[in-house]
Amino acid sequence: MSDGMTIDYDGLIPNNVGLNEDARVRKALETWHPGYTDWWKKMGPVGFQDALVYLRTAVGVGAEGWARFDYVKMPEYRWGILLAPQVEGRTIPFGAHKGEPVWQEVPGEHRAMLRRLLVIQGDTEPASVEQQRHLGATAPSQYDLRNLFQVNVEEGRHLWAMVYLLQKYFGRDGREEAEELLRRHSGDPDSPRMLGAFNERTPDWLSFFMFTFFTDRDGKMQLAALAQSGFDPLSRTCRFMLTEEAHHMFVGETGVQRIIQRTCEAMREAGIDDPTDVERVRALGVIDLPTIQRKVNLHFSLTLDLFGSEISTNAANVFNAGLKGRYREDRLTDDHQLLGDTYPVLRLEDGAIVCEDVPALSSLNMRLRDDFVADTEAGIARWNRVLERAGTEFRIRLPHVAFNRRIGEFAAVHADSDGTLLAADAWAARADSMLPTAEDYRFVNSLMKPVHERGAYAGWIAPPRIGIDNKPGDFEYVKIEA
Ligand SMILES: [Fe+2]
Ligand SMILES: [Fe+2]
Repeated sequence: MSDGMTIDYDGLIPNNVGLNEDARVRKALETWHPGYTDWWKKMGPVGFQDALVYLRTAVGVGAEGWARFDYVKMPEYRWGILLAPQVEGRTIPFGAHKGEPVWQEVPGEHRAMLRRLLVIQGDTEPASVEQQRHLGATAPSQYDLRNLFQVNVEEGRHLWAMVYLLQKYFGRDGREEAEELLRRHSGDPDSPRMLGAFNERTPDWLSFFMFTFFTDRDGKMQLAALAQSGFDPLSRTCRFMLTEEAHHMFVGETGVQRIIQRTCEAMREAGIDDPTDVERVRALGVIDLPTIQRKVNLHFSLTLDLFGSEISTNAANVFNAGLKGRYREDRLTDDHQLLGDTYPVLRLEDGAIVCEDVPALSSLNMRLRDDFVADTEAGIARWNRVLERAGTEFRIRLPHVAFNRRIGEFAAVHADSDGTLLAADAWAARADSMLPTAEDYRFVNSLMKPVHERGAYAGWIAPPRIGIDNKPGDFEYVKIEA
């Protein structure tokens, strides 16, 4: 019998949910497994499938010592179903059912809503693996290659996490949705992934680091809100996913940080003071700071769209139902029902951006997005400390939330990165100074040459300060010829 803490690695599917005693779900998952393996081979990382990669695998779900590092061939990674331990006596923390015992089964009245939440979250997980599948060929080091693959296998495991919930709690509908999650593909014109940012390309490593910094952080915010759920299996699933997710944002934040650091070093060595002297900076084989800023503008705006419309009855319903809470709901001190409360929302009114108090229940997407922005700012501040130490005046800034939007209040207008509204012709004239250009992509792409020797790094990125699992600088993270 599973005690919920140790992971059973005996069967085909590692788990701490007692799969051995649950023949129906075990069979459903074992039936789904070959399709998943096919998907991984067809849509997962290109190449390196036979290489030994120094990966971490979860061995426990407690706070300490939950992972073990070892050489693994990616197709043999033990994707498992891992839930954080059950909290004794937990009650629904918010919404109309606040204070009632949490649900261990799907509440019938909220079944459709819950299924939709699981499918949307589930769809993003394999999507990012698909988006990143070509990056192995141009990795700037073994260290980075290993980090890419770690993120990829864990996104694969997150798909398993959602598929388990679908198959265990939604019967036949759940099995059908689980099949669909393997059938949709990122950027597929006939059957794309569900959300816009997950159909964009990730053509180079700067894009990869930006994606993990911004878009995986949306993942963190969504998981944090779902970790509050009154549907206890979802809460426990998301709590464990969050422990893995932290590494993905670490990869993004330190990746961009190392790029900035290398650019500053190269500029200093060459005696270039002006960061906007792009031609001279690029001639050094490093990525100029204005290009990094344009990439920030793009990835930030694409990621904001993932939060949905600022004002949303659907978000209110999901909260009221007790299915999805706010970021760190358990640390907030209001009544957790928000019936008479308001929340300030930026809106477009008569051609101007104004701040308006809106019923708090309808503005939960906005609130989660604000929490995301605050979390993002902290990372940007750390990038700016690198710039400050390097003695340059240049700073990375987040663009205004109205900039380059496809969804919500500002989808219908153009705004520059300061939030000034622009007519279409003014936007067309200035877009190239605010968003990455074809020339930017061409330049960044020209730097993407693989560096596979142990301990070596491409010239456009600084080595990390410490290795993964405290390994030394020349550690062999990927045995490439294996
Ligand atoms: Fe994920
Ligand atoms: Fe992630």
